[in-house]
Amino acid sequence: MIALEDSELLRTFSYINGSWHSSEKDIAVTNPATGEEIARVSDITPAETELAVAAAKAALPEWSTKSANERAAILRKWFELMMANQMDLGQILTLEQGKPLVEAKGEIAYGAAFIEWFAEEGKRIYGDTIPAPSKDKKIIVIKQPVGVVSAITPWNFPNAMIARKAAAALAAGCTFVVRPATQTPLSALAMAELAERAGIPAGVFNVVVGSDAQGIGEVLTQHPDIAKFTFTGSTGVGKRLIAQCATTVKKVSMELGGNAPFIVFDDADIDAAVQGALVSKYRNAGQTCVCTNRIFVQKGVLKEFTEKFTKAVANLKVGNGMDSDTDIGPLISEKAASDVKQLVVQSLEQGASLLTGNTPSDHPEQFLNPMVLTDVTNDMPIARNEIFGPVSPIIAFDDEQQVIAMANDTEFGLAAYFYARDIGRVWRVSEGLEYGMIGINEGIVSNAAAPFGGVKQSGNGREGSRYGLDDYLEIKYLCMGGL
Ligand code: SIN
Repeated sequence: MIALEDSELLRTFSYINGSWHSSEKDIAVTNPATGEEIARVSDITPAETELAVAAAKAALPEWSTKSANERAAILRKWFELMMANQMDLGQILTLEQGKPLVEAKGEIAYGAAFIEWFAEEGKRIYGDTIPAPSKDKKIIVIKQPVGVVSAITPWNFPNAMIARKAAAALAAGCTFVVRPATQTPLSALAMAELAERAGIPAGVFNVVVGSDAQGIGEVLTQHPDIAKFTFTGSTGVGKRLIAQCATTVKKVSMELGGNAPFIVFDDADIDAAVQGALVSKYRNAGQTCVCTNRIFVQKGVLKEFTEKFTKAVANLKVGNGMDSDTDIGPLISEKAASDVKQLVVQSLEQGASLLTGNTPSDHPEQFLNPMVLTDVTNDMPIARNEIFGPVSPIIAFDDEQQVIAMANDTEFGLAAYFYARDIGRVWRVSEGLEYGMIGINEGIVSNAAAPFGGVKQSGNGREGSRYGLDDYLEIKYLCMGGL
């Protein structure tokens, strides 16, 4: 059971039109570290999901016509409440998701930062005037909220992925319906409780928790009253959802899978690269879309980097996220852990060597010891697929052109990282990598002020930053004649 300072944050019904909505059936939410049931959450149906869409539609006229300052004041309050309850929200998150409490509290601050950011950014939704082709006309551009927004969010960041989308949508004047992952609904429902306390009006922010992913997904992608759909998750699921959105030509933004290269050049600061690779790879036990997936090391520093990195990885402590010395929690499910192990086994069969991570573990199946693989090649399954687990495959390379080609040899294009000191190389590699985000001598690129998003099959649209509002706004052109 969860012992919270504020027990009202533990909500188990969907949140629709400012009320808690119970359904006939329920879903068990379990702690991935122990397998224990934490709560049972009402399991909403697709038909009930339509109530949330109707509520969001009804709330739109009033919310969209509030002044930016009025919306900002309410969002600011939401941000403050999230930070004031950071400890409770962090505990809920660790218990349902598994990440170490320090990371979970970090995620609450990360999520809250998007609300703070967009509360302010909403005041800067500027239009434009354009010189007209004749003197009796004026061309004016204004920006307006797209309307009702629907979202499907993942289990790996149960708070921040909702906050990043909802804050932008609400700041733009849209209303919002989100289906959080059924593994981690409690963080979403706690956000709804705080949204209500912050004064977000009924119908503006709705959370629907339901196990019928297909049926609810169809409502959220095909309902004619929804103007825009946003998704964070795998590329495979994203493609299906985009196709569904085509039936009503919705505006779509997608934050999909990645296959991040992490490149260490001969001129890199190796100790900094080791630290960068460690945080970039092992954050959330490797379960993020921007986690390093392939480590490319130039041959001149291969030995030094591999030795130092392997030593650092071997020191990471695996355990229950609630234990203060845990660096790596459980994976989200046994299936997730077994998929990762399968990739490792395939790599070993194809000639890779395991440098650390094979020590016997007294942890149950869902925990994986962090692994480092060497002698990996860029065509092995582990280098082609998103690993989503604590495994670092190391691939050796000779020169810049070769490594840029290898790094780009994937259908994904979310985040990439490289460590180098030569300024010419820094520019060449930054421009040559086909990715939406590049960490240069940095292992973590995510923050509210920066545009998060990918190219190629990693998605479209940007979240966070001033660009993050664009996906929630329509451009309207006013042509004033007869002047
Ligand atoms: C993700 O894994 O989808 C998000 C990671 C981040 O925001 O840094």
